[in-house]
Amino acid sequence: MAAQATAQIGVTGLAVMGRNLARNLARNGFTVAVHNRSPERTRSLVAEHGDEGTFVPTESLTDFVAALERPRAVIVMVKAGAPTDAVIDELVPLLDEGDIVVDCGNAHFADTRRREEALRGHGLHFVGTGVSGGEEGALRGPSIMPGGSADSYRKLGPIFEKIAAQVDGTPCCRHIGPDGAGHFVKMVHNGIEYADMQLIAEAYDLLRAGLSASPAELAEIFREWNGGELESFLIEITTDVLAHTDAATGRPFVDVVLDQAEQKGTGRWTVQSALDLGIPITGIAEATFARSLSGHAGQRAAARRAFADAGDTWQVDDRETFVEDVRRALLASKIVAYAQGFDQIRAGSREYDWDIDLGGTATIWRGGCIIRARFLDRIREAYDAEPELPTLLVAPWFAERVSAGVPAWRRVVADAARAGVPAPAFASSLAWFDGLRAERLPAALIQGLRDNFGAHTYRRVDRDGSFHTRWAGDRTEVAG
Ligand code: 6PG
Repeated sequence: MAAQATAQIGVTGLAVMGRNLARNLARNGFTVAVHNRSPERTRSLVAEHGDEGTFVPTESLTDFVAALERPRAVIVMVKAGAPTDAVIDELVPLLDEGDIVVDCGNAHFADTRRREEALRGHGLHFVGTGVSGGEEGALRGPSIMPGGSADSYRKLGPIFEKIAAQVDGTPCCRHIGPDGAGHFVKMVHNGIEYADMQLIAEAYDLLRAGLSASPAELAEIFREWNGGELESFLIEITTDVLAHTDAATGRPFVDVVLDQAEQKGTGRWTVQSALDLGIPITGIAEATFARSLSGHAGQRAAARRAFADAGDTWQVDDRETFVEDVRRALLASKIVAYAQGFDQIRAGSREYDWDIDLGGTATIWRGGCIIRARFLDRIREAYDAEPELPTLLVAPWFAERVSAGVPAWRRVVADAARAGVPAPAFASSLAWFDGLRAERLPAALIQGLRDNFGAHTYRRVDRDGSFHTRWAGDRTEVAG
């Protein structure tokens, strides 16, 4: 027998993220239809958590769809890629005009644009939605980044805003923009997440080498930092991980974990998109490459054998100054990562006509998500005050921190280079900063070389137009 249409929203795909989202919806008073390809998961969800709210368990997609009030809102929470397409293909014939399909997975925004267009052709709304916060966030309040039509947000907004994290009474959810805007912003969020984690890891590595300190001692330094401008979820959990002892060996946990970082792909997508958009997100790119370098175990072993003594020994004389230097370098580099990420969001918004509000994006990253941090309030203020800010770097609060940190930043990067401790994200963030502020860049020479070997032409500082020098001939200059 088909279920009655009583549910305000449905979730299909009840692995941990889908299950926790469904529970969050039910706990917030929404009647939730739930479905999973293998019905055991649906049954166990209701058996274990049925008392948290009103679930409508269903065992076929037809019953699932029939259980939903119209316009129907269906959250698809399955693996990105082919599995998502397969579920959408099954759902579409069961839905009616005006119904909404929400993809809360980490889909590539280009796939979301394609799916949105296809479903629009059927009179359906497709809403690619970024959800950040991991398993705990999904259950207790994530940061939610929905794309798709404004029309679909009229139905989804009140539901998502209620289940999202709340900061100062403001929900960490807002309509980001049409079609793939939500998934694009989530992708950049993850890129910043990569940079943030790499910077924290470099800070840890530098402190460990410079101070010869134990992970537990370093945990205390991070705990102290978390009381100041660096306060963030990632610094908080760094304390947790560094202080943890492996039960099997009694050694620091961080020393028994293989030093090869994995990735599911969102960092790579961020860098690929940045290359297409022409936005130098150097910190995020270095973070992504650092993960892949860590995985090249064979090359690393060969290089270790060949260059065992390539760095100087490191003697930090003034420990307190060194720790403060690393803190300042971390803060400055972290500001760079956010500045680059917001540049990319602005560029994507222009390229795809999304009209994304940068201050609004910072607002919904203040809670629930992995990169939540105290200074997101400052980012929001900066873009609210000046939406056309050329770069976050020059907003007063950030400019002050970066300026104050520059000498420390340079000392840390130079010390790391001398000692042979890799700090690629620190170094490339500093180089980006110096590149932006340079009076003249050697790009002029590159233009000269391009013209010399390929007659690619150049522009001059003193006249409009493009020019070519007859390098192989009499070296006269002609209009290009
Ligand atoms: C989040 C996280 C989440 C996931 C990352 C991990 O915002 O909740 O970003 O989406 O943990 O995708 O990605 P990697 O496996 O690529 O590190």
